[in-house]
Amino acid sequence: MGLWHASAVTEAVMLVGGQGTRLRPLTINTPKPMLPVAGVPFTVHQITRARAAGVTRIVLATSYRAEVFREFIEGADLGIEIVIATEDEPLGTGGAIRHALPYLQSAPDAPVLVFNGDVLSGLDIGGLVNHHVAGSADATLYLTPVADPRAFGLVPTDTDGRVTKFLEKPQTPEEIVTDQINAGCYVFRRSVIDEIPAGRPVSVERETFPGLLAANAMVLGVVDRGYWLDLGTPMAFVQGSRDLVLGNAPSPAVSNPGPYLVLADAEVASGALLTGGCAIGRRAQVGAGAVVDGSVVFDDARIGAGAKVTGSIVGAGATVGENCVIDGAVIGDGASIGAGNELLAGVRIWPNVQIAAGAVRFSSDG
Ligand code: GDD
Ligand code: MG
Repeated sequence: MGLWHASAVTEAVMLVGGQGTRLRPLTINTPKPMLPVAGVPFTVHQITRARAAGVTRIVLATSYRAEVFREFIEGADLGIEIVIATEDEPLGTGGAIRHALPYLQSAPDAPVLVFNGDVLSGLDIGGLVNHHVAGSADATLYLTPVADPRAFGLVPTDTDGRVTKFLEKPQTPEEIVTDQINAGCYVFRRSVIDEIPAGRPVSVERETFPGLLAANAMVLGVVDRGYWLDLGTPMAFVQGSRDLVLGNAPSPAVSNPGPYLVLADAEVASGALLTGGCAIGRRAQVGAGAVVDGSVVFDDARIGAGAKVTGSIVGAGATVGENCVIDGAVIGDGASIGAGNELLAGVRIWPNVQIAAGAVRFSSDG
């Protein structure tokens, strides 16, 4: 169907209202899609990718901490029209899409894109839309194969690429029928959104997709084997940030990939080592002899001399004392870690907590 091209879609809904529970304590102050990744709020990577695919208008479906999005969007110019829809009570993924309907301008048969707000991917968005239009589909899902699909929605397809089932977060081994998962981007025929019940919570994964299949609607899947990551956990968040900084993950919002990213007014002492795709936030400080490897240091944070920070997240305004070893840890905004502490392997420090010098050790020697 040569008539259709990438600009066949003009509108998108971005689902950004979740609580980001698995990223606590970082998401206590800041909703997950607004956390800084490679220098900008994560959502900016998605918005600019959508814009590059021909989307001209985005409805941000907000709920949790909606004011943080509103304040940012009002002050930003992302070269695209952004409308903020806010649910009074969280309506779930499907409910949020339905709640966005009055904000959409697309015609009933037009394709509307929907994105989960925490997915970093190299998906060919235009190709997904073309597939949807060419197949006269009611909904078309972006799918990706993963090694362990249990934390996701499993979406088997038949030989024609039609979705046969939707199994969200499978509980039993028998339910693991495929390694193809819902990669968190859909195209809907707009009139399909009209049919989602309004005014109550709806899960698009548990209710809308199974309902469409039961009604024998045309639901297609497109398997894409390119870059894909859900940034829902601390270690995935670190990985996504590194991949953006290093240029392994594509984003129009990263102009200059390299081994590290240092943002405006940060101070990095000579003799500090920045490596592994780490990001150093605005006005942050890194002391002499410190090593920051593949980590995310938020704005105004301070890393003391001789400290070693690997695969970790240091929250806004937090302080890591001299000679600390921080590896695989999350340090909340404003926390203060005294000199010589060792924080390893999944430790999470809540915002503004103060830890005395030398109070935490993982080994008795030294
Ligand atoms: N507006 C709004 N309101 N948004 C919401 C709500 C809500 O009540 N609940 C969740 N969201 C948003 C989240 O902010 C996130 O961007 C998206 O919807 C998906 O929610 P997650 O909490 O991240 O879900 P998940 O990662 O466990 O699973 C989903 O994504 C996987 C792929 O990353 C499902 O869609 C799975 O099927 C999928 O495999
Ligand atoms: Mg997610």
